[in-house]
Amino acid sequence: MLRVSWRSPLKSGRTRRNKAKRILLSPGRHITLQCGGYGDAQWLEREFAAAGNGRVGCGFITWSLAKQPQLLQQTLAHAPAAVMLSFGAPEPFAAAVKAAGVCLICQVQTLAHTRAAVASGADIIVAQGSEAGGHGQSRTTFTLVPEIADYLAKAAPETVLVAAGGVADGRGLAAALVLGAEGVLVGSRFMMSEEALVPAGLHEAVVRARGDATIRTTVLDVVRKLEWPPEHTGRALRNRFVDTWHGRERELGAPDTVVREFDRYTRARETGDMDNTGIFVGEAAGLLNDVRPAGDIVHDMVAQAERILTNRRALPR
Ligand SMILES: Cc1cc2nc3c(=O)[nH]c(=O)nc-3n(C[C@H](O)[C@H](O)[C@H](O)COP(=O)(O)O)c2cc1C
Repeated sequence: MLRVSWRSPLKSGRTRRNKAKRILLSPGRHITLQCGGYGDAQWLEREFAAAGNGRVGCGFITWSLAKQPQLLQQTLAHAPAAVMLSFGAPEPFAAAVKAAGVCLICQVQTLAHTRAAVASGADIIVAQGSEAGGHGQSRTTFTLVPEIADYLAKAAPETVLVAAGGVADGRGLAAALVLGAEGVLVGSRFMMSEEALVPAGLHEAVVRARGDATIRTTVLDVVRKLEWPPEHTGRALRNRFVDTWHGRERELGAPDTVVREFDRYTRARETGDMDNTGIFVGEAAGLLNDVRPAGDIVHDMVAQAERILTNRRALPR
């Protein structure tokens, strides 16, 4: 998450008393979120250790966490900077996060999700538009963010709003701030950083891709036998695997086929054959033309947004 030292006229006069928010919104601060994903106790320990048991946050896929709720207590024992809950009702877990004094982030895709997140006491709401890489729903960032900003202004003015989906440079950051967000959550751009742990060939495949080449699909879940709630699809790169199976999900899910295809999918990933495996990436793929250090990405994104917001003539053509 990023914050630039530009004050949105839309938010002027808002006070930020909450301690978690003061930490998040002090200049130049950000939270690094590691991903608890589908849940693995040993993996969680390894990742916290790899982060030097530093102040990192941890994100969970909420419907999956419900199958292993003990992972939340394991995470809270590390006193994380934040816990992010995405893709499912937050209330079974929100109280434990709040009771531990940990910042609660809820990633939402609709206004209904926003209401539930506010009722659960979310400190930060991430409004995720369908441009985003990975799982999500159908609302776009451009309308979802201002609608949620209006709602929060009335219903929960202390709650921080962060935009996600399609932010890959300073233009996206500036636009998100103008739409009423106070920061951004960035995924695809950081996947294209030197530090990202990605399979061989992935960076090259994304550099080659334009934004037109992504699609919302369930085939990457079907082949991995992940039972996502049907309202969620995942935005991924169209490649041979996706083009072969998109629209033929039932066929792919047939017992023999799925075993065979999962094996091929996994081997392709291991051998760098990016045409025959899955690559989650957002529509921002069309803006991702290089692989750079994460620190440079942050620095340039913030600097470009500041230039744009203080001088519209700085807008690139
Ligand atoms: C490769 C990849 C994996 C992701 N995995 C998760 C995840 O496990 N949990 C989650 O809440 N969001 C996940 N996301 C979505 C991000 O939280 C975020 O909404 C998205 O990356 C923002 O849009 P952008 O990709 O255009 O920056 C993932 C995104 C990408 C690109």
